[in-house]
Amino acid sequence: MSAEPIAIIPVAGIGTRLRPHTHTTPKVLLHVAGKPILAHILDDLPGLGIREVVLIVGYMGDRVQEYVEEHHKELKVHYVDQPERLGLGHAVSLSRTAADDRPVLIILGDTIFDADLKGVISGKLNRIGVKAVEDPRRFGIVEVNGDGKVTRMVEKPEQPTSNLAITGIYYFTHAGPLFAALDELQKKNIRTKGEFQLTDAMQLLVERGETIATFPVAGWYDCGKTETLLETNRVLLGKLGNAEAIQGSVVHGPILVARDAAVENCILGPHVSVASGARLKNAVVRDSIVNDNATVEDILIEASVVGENALVRGAWKTLNVGDSSEVKIT
Ligand code: G1P
Repeated sequence: MSAEPIAIIPVAGIGTRLRPHTHTTPKVLLHVAGKPILAHILDDLPGLGIREVVLIVGYMGDRVQEYVEEHHKELKVHYVDQPERLGLGHAVSLSRTAADDRPVLIILGDTIFDADLKGVISGKLNRIGVKAVEDPRRFGIVEVNGDGKVTRMVEKPEQPTSNLAITGIYYFTHAGPLFAALDELQKKNIRTKGEFQLTDAMQLLVERGETIATFPVAGWYDCGKTETLLETNRVLLGKLGNAEAIQGSVVHGPILVARDAAVENCILGPHVSVASGARLKNAVVRDSIVNDNATVEDILIEASVVGENALVRGAWKTLNVGDSSEVKIT
């Protein structure tokens, strides 16, 4: 069995807070700042020396597989189905055959972040990415001692004793003990909020004296609902976007427009991401995401997400307005 690091990426979630988009598209394939959420994660792996990935799929897993097979040929990918949603700990436990006792980098499939993962992977410690947050009750939290080692972890505590949240990036130098802890949770049916939690398995490791350290996650970009997806789009376009001219249109960067999208007579930006095959005509679009093969015509839109193959068409108004009148179209 290889000792090369392998990534484990759970992508089985339904993404209910992103409906209607997730009725037809798995959350991780929603477009943000020029590419699907999942592509932001996968594109970084080869640079970290990771060439093998386990994707834990569930909801619309075939769509995820189709996308990854077509766009990420550089990676060797194992697809493992999570038929029942029994929690993140259960999802990760399904990757045991592929990961065995290798070094593993676990990244939650909807987590886009800025962190020094090279430093983490080249080190000799188990580490989890953390960030101080205002409301830790929505997350797993860690307590650390003076050396920065984790002393306790709690999944979504009602009365948090720390504001350091678990961001969804975990590195283990050997996956074996983690899989053993996940097995134990399932054998003893230890659940939190009804599910087998990765946080609870890590707490077992800490209780057994395994060292888990932390690392800071400077940027943590949520894609959980439309508003945060748009916010992430703004932040990432600020880093990755451009203001490349589009003939016949006006661009206020940063934007990212797929090469095979058609843009005609538009005003785009700032913060617009247009995916492959989309067609925009006579439109003013800002702070928005237009997904694959969507059409947007004759309209002004902002803070909008237009789904794949959707059609959004407005109309030009004809007015006959007398002097000193006031017309407001809202
Ligand atoms: C999961 C983890 C939690 C972590 C969070 C980060 O929770 O269980 O510990 O803080 O991801 O987003 P979920 O968001 O899946 O409920």
